[in-house]
Amino acid sequence: MQVGIVGIGHVGLPTAAALAHLGHQVVAMDSDSEKIDALNHGSMPFFEEDMEALVAEGLNSSRLRFTTAVAAVADGAEVVFICVGTPPRASGEANLQAVEQAAEAVASVATGDLVLVGKSTVPAGTGDRLLRALEHYKLKVKLTVVSNPEFLREGKAVYDSLHPSRILVGSDSPDALEVMRRLYEPLLGEGGAEWIQTDIRTAELAKHASNAFLALKVSFANAMARVCELAGADVTLVADAMGADPRIGRSFLNAGLGYGGYCFPKDLSAFHRLAERLGYDFRLLEEIARINEEAVESVYKKIEDAMWNLEQKKIALLGLSFKPGTDDTRLSPSLALAERLMAGGAEVVGFDPQANENAQRDLPGLKVAESIEAALEGAHCLVIATDWPEFKDLNLREAAELMTFRAIVDARNLLDGDAASAAGFSYVPVGKPSIKARREGE
Ligand code: UDX
Repeated sequence: MQVGIVGIGHVGLPTAAALAHLGHQVVAMDSDSEKIDALNHGSMPFFEEDMEALVAEGLNSSRLRFTTAVAAVADGAEVVFICVGTPPRASGEANLQAVEQAAEAVASVATGDLVLVGKSTVPAGTGDRLLRALEHYKLKVKLTVVSNPEFLREGKAVYDSLHPSRILVGSDSPDALEVMRRLYEPLLGEGGAEWIQTDIRTAELAKHASNAFLALKVSFANAMARVCELAGADVTLVADAMGADPRIGRSFLNAGLGYGGYCFPKDLSAFHRLAERLGYDFRLLEEIARINEEAVESVYKKIEDAMWNLEQKKIALLGLSFKPGTDDTRLSPSLALAERLMAGGAEVVGFDPQANENAQRDLPGLKVAESIEAALEGAHCLVIATDWPEFKDLNLREAAELMTFRAIVDARNLLDGDAASAAGFSYVPVGKPSIKARREGE
C-alpha cells in the first residue's frame, strides 16, 4: 500500500521505517530540510536502537523516501499518518495547532480519497474536531479520519513497531477500518498483535488512559518507597511480592527518581485538562504528578544528607537521559535533580552514554564529562540517576580510588549495595535501608 507520514520525530520515523519494512511504499515528510537531508544520507536525528539499520533497509529497497514536500506524501496515498508534535500549552492542554495544519496541508494536496490517521497523542474529541474542520475545506476527494494511537517506548521504538502488543484503531467508518487492517495485516494473526477496533473517541481516550495508568504505577512505587523508608522495609521486595500477582504485574513498579520524557508528564496534564473540560475533576492525575516531583526532592535530600553541606562538593551524576536507551533529555528527572543540586551550591558533573549534548542544551551550566572516570575524578558523591545497564558493571573499587569521598546515592536502585559497601562506600538506595561503608578488616 502507499502510505504517507507527516512529521518525522520519535513516532513518525519508527512508524515510517517499520511500515516500509512490512512491504509498504512509504513517503515521510518533515518541514525541517536539514533533517531530511541528513536522513537521506543515512544520519539519524536522534539515537534509537536499530533505527539506522531499519531506515537504511527502507532507503535501499526504495520503499522509504524522505521529503519536505507535503504533495509527495499525499500523492496516490491510501493512508496518511499525522505524527506531528502536540506540545503542552501553558495551561497544560495539548496544543493541536500542528495537527490542524498538517491535516489542512494534506487535504489541500490530496489527489484521491484517503484515510487520515491521527497517531500523535491527542485529547479525546480531536478526531471529531478534525472531521468538522475537514467539512470547511474545499475538498475534491474524500478524507476519512481514524485514530491509531502509538504505544512505542523510546529506546525500544523499532522493536515495539515491529512487535506491538496491540494495534488500536478508532473510526466510525467500516471502510477506513478495513484499510487499516490491510495495512497492519503482516503484524496480526497467530502470536502477533491484538487488533482492537473502537470509535475514534474511545481510541483517543485509551491512549491517555494507558499512559496515565503506567505513570500511576510508577508513582505508586515511589509513594511506597517513602513508606518503606519510614518503616525500614524494602520497596523492591514489596514490588516483587505485588508483581507476582498477575492481576498487578511487576512492570512499572520500580521506585527511583520518577518518570520523565516527553509523553507521561504532558499526557497526564493534557488528560487532566480534558477531563476537567468535560466536567470531571480527575484529581488522581494531579496526585500522580505530585508524587513524581516528590521523588526528585527525596533523592535531593538524600544527597544533601550524605554531603552535609553541598557547597564545594562535586556530584558525579551518572545518567542524564530520562531513561536508558535514548538520548532524550526532555523533562528528564536527572536534569531536574541536577538543577536542584546546582541551585543548592554543588558542582554537578554529568555523564551519559548518549545524552551529554542534549543535557547541556537543556540545562545550560551543567558540566558534562567524556567518560564515567572523568565524572568520578575528585567527586564527593556518585549518583545513579538513569539506569543505563553499563553503570551496573561499574568497577566500584576503581571508583573509590578516583573519588574524594566515598558516597553513593543510587536513585535507581541499580547497584549492588553490599559490593558498594565492600568497596568502602556508604550506599543510599531508594525505598530500602542504607548500607554503611565497610572499612578494612570489617
Ligand atoms: C511512554 C509509553 O510507555 C509509550 O507506550 C507511549 O506511547 C510513550 O510514552 P516512553 O516515554 O518512551 O514511553 O517511556 P517509558 O518506557 O514508558 O518510561 C517512562 C518513564 O517512567 C521513564 O522516565 C522511566 O525511567 C520511568 N519508569 C518506568 C520508572 O521510573 N519506573 C518504572 O518502573 C518504569
